[in-house]
Amino acid sequence: MSELNNIVLKILNIGKGILAADESTATMTKRLETVKVQSTAENRLLFRETLFSASGMTECIGGVILYDETIKQITSKKNKIPELISTMGSVPGIKVDTGAKVLASSPNEKITEGLDGLRERLKDYYKLGAKFTKWRGVYNISKEHPSKLSIQSNAHALARYSALVQECNMVPIVEPEVLMDGEHSAKECYEKTSEIIKKCFEELILHKVDLKGVILKPNMILAGNKCKNKISNEEVAKLTLKCLKDSVPTEVPGIAFLSGGQSEIEATENLNLINKYNDTNFIMSYSFGRALQQSALKFWSKNIKNIEGTQKVFNHRAKMNTLAAKGKWSKELEN
Ligand code: G3H
Repeated sequence: MSELNNIVLKILNIGKGILAADESTATMTKRLETVKVQSTAENRLLFRETLFSASGMTECIGGVILYDETIKQITSKKNKIPELISTMGSVPGIKVDTGAKVLASSPNEKITEGLDGLRERLKDYYKLGAKFTKWRGVYNISKEHPSKLSIQSNAHALARYSALVQECNMVPIVEPEVLMDGEHSAKECYEKTSEIIKKCFEELILHKVDLKGVILKPNMILAGNKCKNKISNEEVAKLTLKCLKDSVPTEVPGIAFLSGGQSEIEATENLNLINKYNDTNFIMSYSFGRALQQSALKFWSKNIKNIEGTQKVFNHRAKMNTLAAKGKWSKELEN
């Protein structure tokens, strides 16, 4: 087994998932503003350190995706953040794209940037303790979108990124996110997601990326948030599985879903059903941002000094998602 494959299996070991705590400072500021906490480097660290030192980390969280600011921060106990994460039995990772910008020639779409100087940045992150990385391509669905141009150029960037990351002995998370925003049906989400993922793997193979050392981070197949014909959770799970079976090469060891704006319970419930029906060899777990942190952030904002209370809220969500990653979650366990 390759070293990279071992890292994947450690991160997604028996129901473990990923905590996506890689919000950029701008996004984290928005999150903190919604709960009326000032967005200072100290407050961002305080919230994140609280989560990273929770017992749920050891039990449920196999990997944490960090942001550039956080990977360089020092905890209140004078430890480096990646050291804290490793001590808790989890693997530190880092978001390495520099954000999605307007795609030239298609102003309503985005292309993710960050390839310039990436090789050097990766070496620095590796020295800081990162063992895996994340790059997010983003696509919106409308009558004309996603265009062939956006599908092609984002897949190309994801492949170049992945090859550079593996060259530096780290595991790339490949995240092509089809946004939930819009009126599109679940069928359209299915078709576009399938086309996008297929193109990503076509490019990854062209760039000689070792697929056994990759984690795919896709969206679930959902109707747009403004679509009148919502589908049931059962249908979400079945369509998501069908889409991935059809578009992901079997060598890929693990798939870790993003939550993409679903509520905490919805994301957990869908993940649970996906695992109940999972008849593939793919590990199907989570790499949630909002769906792992929302309740904890709300609690913390009103009780900033109550570290244990905040950790209890976070531990519960992590436990629920780890049960869902084994297909063993039920609504009653939420109480
Ligand atoms: O890139 C997106 C994040 O890593 C996942 O965040 O679960 O809130 O969609 P989310």
